[in-house]
Amino acid sequence: MNIKTENLSKNYKKKDSLDVDVLRNIQLEIASGQKVALTGPSGSGKSTLVHILGLMDRPTTGNVYIDGIDCFAENDKYLCAMRKKNIGFVFQFHYLMPDFTVLENILLPVWRDRNIKIKLARSILEKIGLLHRQYHFPNELSGGEQQRAALARALINSPRIIFADEPTGNLDRVTGLDIEKLLFESAAELNSTLILVTHSQELAAKADKIIKMTDGKKMI
Ligand SMILES: Nc1ncnc2c1ncn2[C@@H]1O[C@H](COP(=O)(O)OP(=O)(O)OP(=O)(O)O)[C@@H](O)[C@H]1O
Ligand SMILES: [Mg+2]
Repeated sequence: MNIKTENLSKNYKKKDSLDVDVLRNIQLEIASGQKVALTGPSGSGKSTLVHILGLMDRPTTGNVYIDGIDCFAENDKYLCAMRKKNIGFVFQFHYLMPDFTVLENILLPVWRDRNIKIKLARSILEKIGLLHRQYHFPNELSGGEQQRAALARALINSPRIIFADEPTGNLDRVTGLDIEKLLFESAAELNSTLILVTHSQELAAKADKIIKMTDGKKMI
């Protein structure tokens, strides 16, 4: 799926203090299947931007078009359905549910269809080398394994767009590279669009396109 934005801005109104302009007039175009690295210093608005592009937060002004659909002209129910059907998200911290096993965590986004999807869940786990951990709980996994489980959960709906917000942030370099490799491979296999927030130049170099943010503005 392709993504296009028009005059995207986000600001927070604060009582008794100045407004915070987090994003200012962002215009971008990402082609279907493109692998994009989103870089920029801390506080430049990267997470805010991917939360909006991933339809988890509404912009203050402007539009996001996904395959030509003006998403924020729609209601929350529509956004939720669109996310569920087409979007996968991997965060810096895994957000796995502690009382569910790895397998159950991966099935959570498709819980109603879990009996149908269990084969797919296991095949994803096998691909990312975690099948032997399917009945383990998140706190029994290493940091790298937790992030791999979070990646598996993001892939269960075969998303057309994958967002990853510093998915390797808490990992050592080798484990981080491993996750990045899996992300690129998974996106390539599904022919999905990938938007990856990263501080790693090494990783950005592997992307088809780099979007650099500075102070709420897109620089390149
Ligand atoms: N709810 C909020 N209210 C006010 N300001 C906010 C809010 N959320 C984020 N901000 C501000 O928006 C700016 C951008 O934050 P954001 O998390 O998007 O940055 P980032 O580029 O992802 O940084 P990092 O690399 O540290 O993750 C920051 O200055 C932050 O303080
Ligand atoms: Mg961030």
